[in-house]
Amino acid sequence: MSRHTYITTPIYYVNDKPHIGHAYTTTICDVFARFMRFDGDDVFFLTGTDEHGIKIEKSAQARGISPQALADKNAKEFKAMMAQLQLGFDDFIRTTEARHVRQVECLVGRLRASDAVYLGEFEGWYDEGQEEYHTETRARDLQYKSPVSGAPLVRAREKNYYFRLSAFQKPLEELFERCPDFVRPPARRNEVLGQLRKGLQDVPMSRTNFTWGVPMPGDPEHVIYVWIDALMNYITALGLAEPDGDAYRRRHAYWPPAYHVIGKEILWFHAVIWPALLMALELALPECIYAHSFWIRDGQKMSKILGNFIDLKTIESYVDRYGLDTWRYYMATKGPLGATDADFSSAHFHEIYTTDLVNTLGNCASRVTAMIGKYVNGVVPTESPGGTRIAVGNHDWPAICQQAVADAQRAMRRFELASSIGSAIGLIRRVDGFINLTEPYKIAKDKTRGDELGAILYQCLEAIRIGSLLLWAVMPQRMNQLWEAMGLSIDPTTDRLTTLSAWGGLEVGRRVQRIALFPRIDAPLEADASSCRQPTAESREAT
Ligand code: MSP
Repeated sequence: MSRHTYITTPIYYVNDKPHIGHAYTTTICDVFARFMRFDGDDVFFLTGTDEHGIKIEKSAQARGISPQALADKNAKEFKAMMAQLQLGFDDFIRTTEARHVRQVECLVGRLRASDAVYLGEFEGWYDEGQEEYHTETRARDLQYKSPVSGAPLVRAREKNYYFRLSAFQKPLEELFERCPDFVRPPARRNEVLGQLRKGLQDVPMSRTNFTWGVPMPGDPEHVIYVWIDALMNYITALGLAEPDGDAYRRRHAYWPPAYHVIGKEILWFHAVIWPALLMALELALPECIYAHSFWIRDGQKMSKILGNFIDLKTIESYVDRYGLDTWRYYMATKGPLGATDADFSSAHFHEIYTTDLVNTLGNCASRVTAMIGKYVNGVVPTESPGGTRIAVGNHDWPAICQQAVADAQRAMRRFELASSIGSAIGLIRRVDGFINLTEPYKIAKDKTRGDELGAILYQCLEAIRIGSLLLWAVMPQRMNQLWEAMGLSIDPTTDRLTTLSAWGGLEVGRRVQRIALFPRIDAPLEADASSCRQPTAESREAT
């Protein structure tokens, strides 16, 4: 039976238009989901939209439409973005859907029935934009300003239902000790653990100052706090609160998630409040909360005020010029997966395209397929004339490839995308080095060395084939083209990476065509050169 692997993105607020942040998180999850599926896992990839809360209610009011109409319109835009970028989720959950609302009511009802929730009065420092309360110490650390928008925190007082987060202080600290990988990367873990050790306060889980949300079961004057409602999407999508339902039957085995992939700004909710809620609900905990950093632009923070967010139109211009696979490659290998922010610049994008894709992968594939056309009639030669493998220059290609595959698999399972993809590109670089070392173009002039020439070309092409399997998840279109040129028919939805990547899978005698995978492009796309564009009407409106 194959391993169940559940991966989620945050659910995105519908008062915003899709931009690089949303595209990035969804793209890296898509790369992971494809790879793991190809590697034999039974993967469930969830994304969606977060549609309740005062922010959405206010945005809708400002536009003179109902919150539901706003949510419908923008959820459609998020779906359109994902279709355009060919992001293949298994489900797109919207928090206004009946299946979600029903289950949130049921889950919160369960929490209320337990000791985890009580009605109480609370006063604290409130970040209106983020709909988040901060403790006194944290508020002081933040100089009483929102860490996201910079707006002053306000003193707010409310009679609310509270979640007894303080009761989970010890279990959470134990969790962090027991599972050092519960939050990654390590810098984020240390950060959140530091905060956690300062002590936990109970958190409100209902609000009364607006109505756009899920009503509190048994007390409809209260609306369930949007973050509680939103976090629960990860379980409602699997139908976990309705054990008699169809969704539960088909999906419950995916719980718990391998990864909740999020941006660093929403780490506290995912790394502290969420596991505490799950403990209170007696559900298994996710294996890892992976909190990536941010894309910044030409050295500056992207913000709505500056209007320098890379929006969908800008993404489209990159995709048009370089191809979707290049966009995915750049996102997956140069993105802010580590503890520091990553700078998106047109020049850097162009440089990576040229060095990794044109000069390395494209050039190597074209070089090898061209030599096969020229020296061995366009047909895959054998590396074992008379039944004995020829190891040219002592290169143990089967072992080299096996190592690259194992490295790529291990790294991807750990969500180290750049390292996984790097093993494949490293393999291609070795092929290039091997060609330079063995000089098949010289050997081809000597009729007595035909066997050696055949072995070299076989080994080069076979290593490229194995590398291409590892690169398919990030560049599915181009790898399909490559496979077509190599006369291979591979279906990664049914074929398995481990079987296909065994050395010798390339059949002798197959016809191979010369392939040019990545055309050289002269100059960077200058569309993002002015990082401080004036805010557009649209970006102002989105704030
Ligand atoms: N609705 C909440 C999440 C609830 S999850 C239960 C939310 N939504 S959001 O629309 O603001 O999306 C935030 C996510 O977008 C971040 O966590 C991150 O995944 C992504 N990004 C937003 N800006 C980003 C960058 N500049 N760079 C990279 N990703 C960032 O928060």
